[in-house]
Amino acid sequence: MSDSKPPILVFGATGQQGGSVAAALRKADWPVRALVRNPSSAQSVALLGMGVELLPGQFADADAIRAAMAGVHGVFSVQPSSGQGPVLGLSDEEEERFGVAIADLAVESGVGHLVYTSVGAVGDQPTGMGHFDSKARIEAHIRTLPITATIVRPATFMEMLTMPGFGLDAGRFNFFVKSDQSMQLVAVEDIGRIVAAIFADPARFGGRTLEIAGDSVTGRDLEALFTEAAGRQIAYERFSDEVLTANPFLAKLTALLDTGRLAGRADLDALRKINPDMLSFREWLAGSGREAFERALGTGEAWAYGGS
Ligand SMILES: NC(=O)c1ccc[n+]([C@@H]2O[C@H](COP(=O)([O-])OP(=O)(O)OC[C@H]3O[C@@H](n4cnc5c(N)ncnc54)[C@H](OP(=O)(O)O)[C@@H]3O)[C@@H](O)[C@H]2O)c1
Repeated sequence: MSDSKPPILVFGATGQQGGSVAAALRKADWPVRALVRNPSSAQSVALLGMGVELLPGQFADADAIRAAMAGVHGVFSVQPSSGQGPVLGLSDEEEERFGVAIADLAVESGVGHLVYTSVGAVGDQPTGMGHFDSKARIEAHIRTLPITATIVRPATFMEMLTMPGFGLDAGRFNFFVKSDQSMQLVAVEDIGRIVAAIFADPARFGGRTLEIAGDSVTGRDLEALFTEAAGRQIAYERFSDEVLTANPFLAKLTALLDTGRLAGRADLDALRKINPDMLSFREWLAGSGREAFERALGTGEAWAYGGS
């Protein structure tokens, strides 16, 4: 571990985004601290193995967060959302409260650079989705604070497309986009790479809001890419009207895609200059996504999409 840099505190390091950020920061030789609820979980033990310092605590424990923030240069802030369902997620109010509290504690602790991860759908107007508008309110609060802050807004995770319930196990794929409609996607590992680049250059990225995506795909692209990766035909169809009528959550997300809010506005070329390794969906499917894809092709599990 490098002694020349001050540490960065990563929230959610046992999860997808925080895990990706912790790995990328360690690769860039940053000392990394993680606030974890269960230091003996498999994910925590894996973090230890990467040289991450574990501090026990949780979002509601301000004293533990203060202790974890002592002497750090940076903080990466992520909260699960109500879209992840009642087991994994927080309520919209909890998400907002914790996102705001972490930012306030970062100011109080004299943190040099706060990176908050929001979501691509956030913009000037509310979306009507609780777990997007909670992030808009956290963003707005952060912008009022006397701290160097960068907000990242990841597009839909590529990982989400291999979750059970979208039909891959039955040789088809059903999703939000129409055949000729584009939607941006990002591999979770690229969020970490971009966030590491942001922490490396606060003068360039401080005060900015950055949409993050590695690719843009249509329904037709998804059919071609899944078919190529599976070595057999995977037919694409947008969610049927019956599915959307029965699932208002999906219907709202689909409507947001139709108005462009969920389609993504990331500048893919500019992001590739920040991180030349930004993954296309084809690259992700052939690489780190391969295992999840194969599992999805073989799984017979029922609908499990929470929609984070
Ligand atoms: N899915 C998408 O396509 C997408 C796209 C853009 C944005 N997002 C947003 O991404 C966020 C979720 O990020 P993610 O996928 O990285 O989440 P994740 O994989 O579910 O990880 C959540 C992390 O938060 C930790 N955590 C949960 N409750 C906690 C608490 N009370 N105190 C301290 N730590 C706690 C978990 O720790 P434990 O290990 O202890 O549980 C875990 O490390 C959501 O807000 C979602 O809206 C999702």
